[in-house]
Amino acid sequence: MIVVNTKQELDEQLAEWRQNGDHIALVPTMGNLHAGHVALVELAREHAERVVVSIFVNPTQFGDNEDFEEYPRSLQRDRRRLQKPAADLIFAPDVEIIYPFGLKDATTISVPRITEKFCGASRPGHFDGVTSVVARLIAIVQPDVAIFGQKDYQQQLVIRHMSQDLSLPVAIITAETVREDDGLAMSSRNLFLTDEERAVAPTMHRVLSSVGMELQSGQRNFDELEAKSIAELVDAGFTVDYFSIRRAQNLEIPDRDCDELVVLAAAHLGKARLIDNTVITI
Ligand code: PAJ
Repeated sequence: MIVVNTKQELDEQLAEWRQNGDHIALVPTMGNLHAGHVALVELAREHAERVVVSIFVNPTQFGDNEDFEEYPRSLQRDRRRLQKPAADLIFAPDVEIIYPFGLKDATTISVPRITEKFCGASRPGHFDGVTSVVARLIAIVQPDVAIFGQKDYQQQLVIRHMSQDLSLPVAIITAETVREDDGLAMSSRNLFLTDEERAVAPTMHRVLSSVGMELQSGQRNFDELEAKSIAELVDAGFTVDYFSIRRAQNLEIPDRDCDELVVLAAAHLGKARLIDNTVITI
């Protein structure tokens, strides 16, 4: 596996692979890799002969009061993690490579409406940062496919919207959420949890799953389900940001007949902000 930091090194390697007729998959990450990221790499392998993992803690998707400085960086450990599913190349650029005009003069790509709710409402500007960096990574790597996790449900919808709207020549693939044995969705931010908080954290998945089962069995009082779930999370010690049942396709408010639903949750537990979701097809 090769680690490259510059566009020139990357371009040389990509040109060689393309000349051989290899397809290229891109797995964008911010590093501090865990089994969830590794699963994306494994899925990428099924879609392309060559897998590129980008590791870039993207400053433009963090708000002023967020954890950009504290966000864990661990390139050596990440590199070891990627030996096993065998990514072919790690692209770990500096900020100047991704934003050559500097952050103040950088072009922003902004998807309207769907980015204004949920994580977009709690983290203003966050999705502009995500779409701007993902568009740049896609332009730089020009992959045939790019893989994203269902754990960040709204993010993958926003990226699909951007990609379709701009006719980006890449297939967007969504990979299932990888969980700890007790159900907690794996996340780089889980390491902010104290032991006590870590013991409580799987409650989020339990509550989501039980709402999922109620929806499957025909319960359609969405408001009641949401209110009950928020109360359960608050009781367990979470500060709830949102808990909402929506149309899986576009996050709009569903009617009773909607047959593809997503239940989305975000909540703070101590220093960590946890998000998770479950999709129900009826
Ligand atoms: P990051 O949080 O590092 O996540 C990289 C990718 O891994 C995302 O597509 C995310 O949805 C996926 N992922 C995270 N935890 C997962 C889990 N438990 N199971 C399956 N997939 C999981 O998301 C980002 O970085 C950034 O916003 C990025 C897209 C790289 C743009 O900067």
